Amino acid sequence: MCPCPTTERRAVTRFENRVALITAAATGLGQAAAYRLAAEGARVTIWDRDARALQEATDEGERRGVRVRVRQLDMLERGQVEAGVAELAASEGRIDVLVNNIGGSLHVPFRFLEQSDEDWERVLALNVSACVATTRAVIPVMRRNGYGRIVNMGSKAGRFGSLFAGTPYVAAKGAVQAFTLQLAQEFGPDGITCNTICPGAILTPRVERFLGERQTPEERARVVASIPVRRQGRVEDVAAAVAYLASEEAGFVNGAALDVNGGQAMSI
Ligand SMILES: NC(=O)c1ccc[n+]([C@@H]2O[C@H](COP(=O)([O-])OP(=O)(O)OC[C@H]3O[C@@H](n4cnc5c(N)ncnc54)[C@H](O)[C@@H]3O)[C@@H](O)[C@H]2O)c1
Repeated sequence: MCPCPTTERRAVTRFENRVALITAAATGLGQAAAYRLAAEGARVTIWDRDARALQEATDEGERRGVRVRVRQLDMLERGQVEAGVAELAASEGRIDVLVNNIGGSLHVPFRFLEQSDEDWERVLALNVSACVATTRAVIPVMRRNGYGRIVNMGSKAGRFGSLFAGTPYVAAKGAVQAFTLQLAQEFGPDGITCNTICPGAILTPRVERFLGERQTPEERARVVASIPVRRQGRVEDVAAAVAYLASEEAGFVNGAALDVNGGQAMSI
């Protein structure tokens, strides 16, 4: 019999002995990514500010046969972010994967002239500053081990504009991708790669409600008809992309923006 492991076995253990931190991940895309990495052998910690959602994520993980560790913190508080990273590094001894999932459009007005300075500040703080603070705390830990995979959650909005989220979100996600490029260049020599995933609309309960407010059923049907694969995205679509970019085998992919949008927006 061939001594090499089967493809199936390799897939299940891809993240064995790897430690992953996924931010703002009690629900939605981050939660799905957490279950995916944990199912493939990673020791996963998720952060969120919502204690009840963290408990539900733990319970749902158990139902699915995967374990995720949780830590409640508010990522808008830099001290809490730094303490969270220090605690994880001390308990695990390493952080191999950072998924900067924190972000969101915060339902600010769609139209530019209706947005306030405060709308801009809140959206940039959540999508950019919280991601920067976490990354700044985690990179020294990755550097010590000469290995790291940073996966930033961008958006189709940051590359192609948005049909329902306003300019602060679009600008913030563009900044996340620009941040990615420079990290990829600066820390590649340390064995650390950095890439962005750019999902189109993914049907989480929150996005369902949001689309319901901002688009009529006819508009929504037209949007789906314009997507080449003729469906909207699922959290599992994004989790699969996270797992690839977070894996050791993606080591030569650095500074990329991976579109996960069914072909709704494409570029060469
Ligand atoms: N859902 C989509 O259609 C979509 C599309 C493209 C990109 N994205 C991006 O993917 C990421 C996840 O999106 P989602 O739709 O799954 O989000 P979500 O709104 O479903 O979940 C976000 C989580 O973040 C937590 N959170 C919010 N503020 C926090 C804070 N200050 N500190 C700690 N936790 C906090 C919430 O409690 C919640 O559990 C975001 O960066 C978003 O911009 C989402």
